[in-house]
Amino acid sequence: MKKLLLLTLVMMFSHQAMADPFLSTFFRFKGVKPMDNDLYNESCGECHYAYQAGLLPKRSWEKMMLPEELEDHFGEVAELDEEDRVELLNLLVENAADTSFYKRSMKISRSIPEDATPLRITEVPYIKRKHKPMTDKYVKNNPKVKSLINCNACHREIDKGIFDDDTILIPNYGYWSEIKDD
Ligand code: HEC
Ligand code: HEC
Repeated sequence: MKKLLLLTLVMMFSHQAMADPFLSTFFRFKGVKPMDNDLYNESCGECHYAYQAGLLPKRSWEKMMLPEELEDHFGEVAELDEEDRVELLNLLVENAADTSFYKRSMKISRSIPEDATPLRITEVPYIKRKHKPMTDKYVKNNPKVKSLINCNACHREIDKGIFDDDTILIPNYGYWSEIKDD
């Protein structure tokens, strides 16, 4: 991790890297870190979008991944065998919002009071604030969205950890960047 951070800093300040559009975009770390773990995507993407670890702090994942919590996961059984549970817990903790240097993760982490352990991303103050414009017509009464938990219904580049305005396409309405000023 330290090596990667050092490498990143070297790359960020290298003129060569900034001249390359791919590298300069990549090294801005604007969004959240993408998740490319097959076990995670299969186990935690079964009932809803497989949320990135960088969307909640460490303490939230530690609580959510307790065996007794997984037995009653928002009213559903999301049990895992012990080996998988430990592997996924470690993956989530290592990539959690409060130790990430991705910008959205840092904003998420900073917005949560220290004594709070939210289990819902949709209840994180920063996420709530950002989605104030997402009224019922766009979400609840929109059959292709239904709930704010379906992040990927609107955030079309979320698998890459990107949330920029020009990647938000609201089903039945269009690109947010085009409709927001109407
Ligand atoms: C058996 C189905 C199922 C599985 C498997 C499952 N979940 Fe969930 N999860 C749910 C349900 C149901 C909700 C609540 C949905 C709602 O509010 O409409 C939920 C909600 C969540 C939320 C909160 C969403 C929000 O911001 O409101 C997170 C975070 C979450 N799950 C993470 C996980 C993780 C991590 C795993 C893998 C260990 C997992 N889930 C596996 C059914 C599941
Ligand atoms: C109904 C469509 C919709 C859904 C579903 C949705 N979002 Fe968003 N999201 C938006 C819009 C629109 C904005 C931009 C609001 C604005 O103008 O600031 C946004 C903004 C954001 C931002 C801030 C991006 C930035 O650059 O400022 C993040 C992070 C984000 N959403 C994450 C999520 C996550 C995580 C979920 C699922 C738990 C989710 N969103 C679900 C529409 C949606």
